[in-house]
Amino acid sequence: MTIQKSQPYLSDVATPNGSEVDVKALVQAVDDLMMEATTSEVQLLQNASHHTISAGGKRIRPQMLLLTYLALGGDELDYALPVAASIEMVHTASVVHDDINDHGMLRRGRPSVNAKWGRTFALLTGDFLFTKVYELMAEYTEANVIFAQATRALVEGETLQAAAVKSGDLSREVYMRVIGLKTAELFRAATQIGAMLADADEYVQNKMGEFGYSVGMAFQIIDDILDITGDTEQLGKTAGIDVRQGKGIASVGDTPVDPMEQIRSEILSGDTIEKGRMLAQSFVDTAIDALSVLPDGPEKDKLAEIANLVIERSN
Ligand code: IPE
Ligand code: IPE
Ligand code: MG
Ligand code: MG
Repeated sequence: MTIQKSQPYLSDVATPNGSEVDVKALVQAVDDLMMEATTSEVQLLQNASHHTISAGGKRIRPQMLLLTYLALGGDELDYALPVAASIEMVHTASVVHDDINDHGMLRRGRPSVNAKWGRTFALLTGDFLFTKVYELMAEYTEANVIFAQATRALVEGETLQAAAVKSGDLSREVYMRVIGLKTAELFRAATQIGAMLADADEYVQNKMGEFGYSVGMAFQIIDDILDITGDTEQLGKTAGIDVRQGKGIASVGDTPVDPMEQIRSEILSGDTIEKGRMLAQSFVDTAIDALSVLPDGPEKDKLAEIANLVIERSN
């Protein structure tokens, strides 16, 4: 592949001889590239994109991609960086659109794009972020295929979820399928692509994909628990959003009950929250097993730490 390696972003972020991984510097480099990639002559698109990107976020997906790349001997961070930024931009586009669908008014501690600019411009901002991903990813042929699959899965998951909520035809099986598609497949793409860019063999790529997928499943289950148990300030996004809109499990009586909330509650709420946590933990256990494919080192430790943090996190 002939990728320009001229970006200066990561010249200072070497990780010599397996010493500490400077994750903060990696994230800063991803952030800088996302900000640069989302400039536009149409000021509104740039402002709305920068509003969302500069609000921060956990940056878990690009961290997982870059750490996998480094763990497997990848040593050209400037080559992996646009892909890491792209995965975060797909995620960012997806939450901009998700807030339209969910009427989310707060995101990353700030008004959501739809709250600040309205639904039309939020739709277009999400589209803009996706088009910028095409540009950044244009030269990464093989990785682009995985990218396309994950993005398709995300759209399918969001659609299945909306359709299931509409028809009331939701089961635990559908819930698991939805979260696999809408969330875990993008996590799989992050780690699988990290391994691919490092020229790992197919077995290792798939194992790392399994790691990402399992972390993603745990991540969404915990996200759904936090939606019920967390508060808005802690989450930086509106907690119990469906409940407050009269769609949730707490809205018994005249208000319609959202079946997604019903299944969520069966899995997650009341005395079954603990079961949800156990389910998430079992995905993390699977993830940690898959990690054995990596050589020992600080990046592997950091990935294990991220997997465990998914359970412990409070936002
Ligand atoms: C939110 O993702 C959407 C889900 C898949 C649950 P994150 O919790 O990673 O969002 P940020 O990027 O940290 O804001
Ligand atoms: C987010 O689902 C999944 C996406 C792919 C966007 P949620 O609707 O549960 O995410 P939050 O809680 O709004 O971040
Ligand atoms: Mg949603
Ligand atoms: Mg939402």
